[in-house]
Amino acid sequence: MPTEEQLEKFHNDIKAQSHVDEDVKKILDGFPKSAHPMGVLSSLTSALVAFNPSSVNVDSEEDMYKAIVKILAKFPVLTAWTYRKRLGLPLDYGDDSLRYVDNFVKMMFKKPSGEYTSKPTVVDALNKLLILHADHEQNCSTSTVRIVGSSHAGLFVSISAGIAALWGPLHGGANQAVIEMLEAIKEDGGDTKKFMAKAKDKDDPFRLMGFGHRVYKNFDPRAKIIKKAADDVLEDLGIEDPVLDIAKALEKEALEDPYFVERKLYPNVDFYSGIIYRALGIPVEMFTPMFALGRLPGWIAQWREMRLQKEPIGRPRQIYVGANLRSFVPIEKR
Ligand code: ACO
Repeated sequence: MPTEEQLEKFHNDIKAQSHVDEDVKKILDGFPKSAHPMGVLSSLTSALVAFNPSSVNVDSEEDMYKAIVKILAKFPVLTAWTYRKRLGLPLDYGDDSLRYVDNFVKMMFKKPSGEYTSKPTVVDALNKLLILHADHEQNCSTSTVRIVGSSHAGLFVSISAGIAALWGPLHGGANQAVIEMLEAIKEDGGDTKKFMAKAKDKDDPFRLMGFGHRVYKNFDPRAKIIKKAADDVLEDLGIEDPVLDIAKALEKEALEDPYFVERKLYPNVDFYSGIIYRALGIPVEMFTPMFALGRLPGWIAQWREMRLQKEPIGRPRQIYVGANLRSFVPIEKR
């Protein structure tokens, strides 16, 4: 763990690198407003290499540190810009006098006119969310970052590949799927019992999004913390939202339903993180970029560990299980 001095230096080094070259705005300008933010973010992160060529040199720990600090500083700016571009808002730089999350929410939500004051409950919830999303074993995007980095490609492009991997609905996209399901239930009339019955029906492919986990067969320890944060945010912001009412009803019904209890299907992190993002007014397409922002330090730590341990280039073993012999048929006879 860092000493107080080391931690302060780390914070200051990040703050000193929070500028993004103005020309990056021209690249962002080239994307249509409707572009999915994950594609935009992956592209911009990769484009950063062109503006920071020295970051590719990762042979020394010092250079590695410089590259890490740069991406930690610039990625929140890119995330906020991607969001603001969708809304047609001017692109803002943050305020280095603020702490990380305070600065990030200001960059995201500050209107062109007027001040922005962050709410402590919101900042606290986002801090928790980002920390709890930081790292989680060899998930799809983390393995991707490691394997791309194992070819000695630079940090930024390895992260760019990780963002692409996280984009998928089976990975980071699950939090978006939760809200889309809740909206579909609302559109259908809001009968949660009907959808509970569908989820339990073996002849129906419908599953309750945001419930269950491949590894955690008890309440995901992260979900317990995020649930409390979600409750606090909803109460503090005094949000009245029928979609979030449906979420609360489903949560209660599932926790008491023998089908879910026997199979140990508890609400997972994606269930509660989706609720928090929705309560903050973040559009669903931005949910996965928020996950990426949280996962960034984990990707970096895994990449750094791999490079410091001088791991060889990644090459997953593949076992061929196809036919042993196949005859060649000339193209005109196929
Ligand atoms: N809704 C209804 N039934 C479910 C659900 C669900 N969400 N999840 C599992 N089940 C049932 C299955 O039908 C199965 O029932 P059976 O034993 O009668 O056949 C039983 O529970 C076990 O299901 P498996 O698919 O074997 O569980 P597994 O651990 O392989 O799957 C998974 C975990 C993929 C997360 C699953 O629970 C699911 O699809 N959940 C919904 C999607 C979701 O929320 N994904 C986010 C995961 S968390 C994260 O990525 C951070």
